[in-house]
Amino acid sequence: MSIQSAARRLTAPDIRARKGGEPIVSLTSYHAHTARLIDPHVDFMLVGDSLGMVMHGMETTVPVTVEMMILQGQAVMRGSSRALVVVDLPFGSYEGSPQQAFATAARVLKETGAGAVKLEGGRRMAETVRFLADRGVPVMGHVGLTPQAINTLGSFRAVGRDEAGAELIRDDARAIAEAGAFAIVLEAMAEPLARAITAEVACPTIGIGGSSACDGQILVLEDMLGLSDKVPRFVKKYADIGPSIGAAVENFAADVRARAFPGPEHVYASKKSA
Ligand code: KIV
Repeated sequence: MSIQSAARRLTAPDIRARKGGEPIVSLTSYHAHTARLIDPHVDFMLVGDSLGMVMHGMETTVPVTVEMMILQGQAVMRGSSRALVVVDLPFGSYEGSPQQAFATAARVLKETGAGAVKLEGGRRMAETVRFLADRGVPVMGHVGLTPQAINTLGSFRAVGRDEAGAELIRDDARAIAEAGAFAIVLEAMAEPLARAITAEVACPTIGIGGSSACDGQILVLEDMLGLSDKVPRFVKKYADIGPSIGAAVENFAADVRARAFPGPEHVYASKKSA
């Protein structure tokens, strides 16, 4: 085995150890090819259940299944070799009991080879986080805006906007940190709240619309590349590749219609002259 191929993947304890240190870089990935492209640049990649909305055009993440997460988790593992891969547990696959969560998480880890799972929820999930962590399942938490709860929340709005609401989110983050989460995603909250949580929990916080006060950041890859139709207001676009795809396809269509599309003779001709 060469030294290069022996380079090991980052693990949940590696991410946990970055608390207060070099900021943690992360993005979502659902495919082998995007995993390959982002692998050298991120510390972990999340196979997020946002794939239901981004890849499949669903209105919410609620219909996403364990099978969908496993299929894309396998693809992302094939495409990457360095970053930790974290797979979301989808709605309905873990909230029933710690035992249900363990059965789902164990299946996800066995069938994908990923290094950790993520689940949404604070105090109500603390017992489950402890149950999983005690049984060898690294758990990333997710508090603040929790999109799987859209049917009770009513909309994807920022949370913790008054003092009482902010206090509940702090309690949520503390509860799952104390239960053994190795990192916690803080979604859609104002900077003072994200800063307070980051200061009081022992594990790293990963912001998504949670300000730069967090220990790291995550974005949905398609959102920051300009591929998504609708993006949350906090998303900074680092590229705008949607229009370039449109332009490339338009050029392709023009070539096809003009019968100017290079065919096999093009390849054979260049082989002969080589
Ligand atoms: O599913 C997802 O993409 C996520 C991120 C928004 C953190 O949970």
